[in-house]
Amino acid sequence: MDGVIRADLDQLPSYVPGRSIPGAVKLASNEVAAAPLPNVIAAICDAAAGVNRYPSNTAPALTDRLGARLHVPRSQVAVGPGSVALCEHLVQTTCGPADEVVFAWRSFEAYPIITQVVGAGRRMVPLRSDHTHDLPAMLAAITSQTRLVFVCNPNNPTGTAVPREELVAFLDAVPDGVLVVLDEAYHEFVTDSAVADGVALSLDRDNVAVLRTFSKAYRLAGLRVGYCVAPAPVVTALRKVSVPFSVNSVAQAAALASLDVADELLAHCREVAAERDRVRAELLAMGYAVPDSQTNFIWLPLGQRSAAFNEHCRARKIVIRPFPDDGVRITIGNPPENDLFLSAAHDWHRKPDRETYRGGRRRQPPM
Ligand SMILES: Cc1ncc(COP(=O)(O)O)c(C=O)c1O
Repeated sequence: MDGVIRADLDQLPSYVPGRSIPGAVKLASNEVAAAPLPNVIAAICDAAAGVNRYPSNTAPALTDRLGARLHVPRSQVAVGPGSVALCEHLVQTTCGPADEVVFAWRSFEAYPIITQVVGAGRRMVPLRSDHTHDLPAMLAAITSQTRLVFVCNPNNPTGTAVPREELVAFLDAVPDGVLVVLDEAYHEFVTDSAVADGVALSLDRDNVAVLRTFSKAYRLAGLRVGYCVAPAPVVTALRKVSVPFSVNSVAQAAALASLDVADELLAHCREVAAERDRVRAELLAMGYAVPDSQTNFIWLPLGQRSAAFNEHCRARKIVIRPFPDDGVRITIGNPPENDLFLSAAHDWHRKPDRETYRGGRRRQPPM
């Protein structure tokens, strides 16, 4: 097999999924803790009886339904097997080996992997010290080779969101020939009215695409459905690069059934957002630094203490998502799960730390 596998893949970091440990509370993958609603489970069971047939290739019923819901023509909607696949397809449709993708860092960890798999270059622009996108610096990072810019809004893993005015100023300044992809996987959890709806912003622009997903608010992470709203030529190109039949028929049926109960699902997202704000307020009161989150998770920028904090939670059977030397991300679960996490965070905060406990005098751990 020598020489068969692309040598550059040796350097490629693997995507690290949130871990599931039997018996532990999983707050690691930004899922909604609640199960799909009964009508969705029924639709899944019904659709299962027909899986001897191929699914509709471009998910026309779901595409139409999304178009009607978002007030965009169906020619501007593409459905894919999860929005992460659509991220990759967008890079494939815009970039060759000489081209570059710009994105913030730290952001969604799939971006660098996808970029390298496609074979394009990348420019990663550090987040500001308040964990928000530095859009002026991202603008400055755009070169004649840039074809695509990801703006993860709100950002995974920091939870922070870009205000409308800043985003509009950025979109106005991005040169022609560069596609801006607003990754809105957590859009349904946004409660700050200063955060723009990317779809509305995209409609009168020919270089903006918006990604959303059924994995989070719509509770279908295991079925893999996401969608892209983009100018018609981008959607046409997306259809060319996507693998045929990649959104399976059970997923299509479940997504449609979820839209039937969207009001209930979105009301639950507001409850999750209220829990998020409660958890954040309690952590702030304990002395942690916690950036404002507009998602269903929160970020603790613990730096080099991240791994130890993760172990501390693991010992209490709570699985969170560590990003070594940077921070930890905690998904908002149901209230008892959140209370369990808060109690672990409380214990950690009170624990004398070997590195910060010197000469018998306790110093506050750096948060
Ligand atoms: C910012 C962001 N974009 C996209 C995705 C992918 O979601 P999907 O399940 O639709 O592929 C995720 C998943 O965690 C995410 O955090």
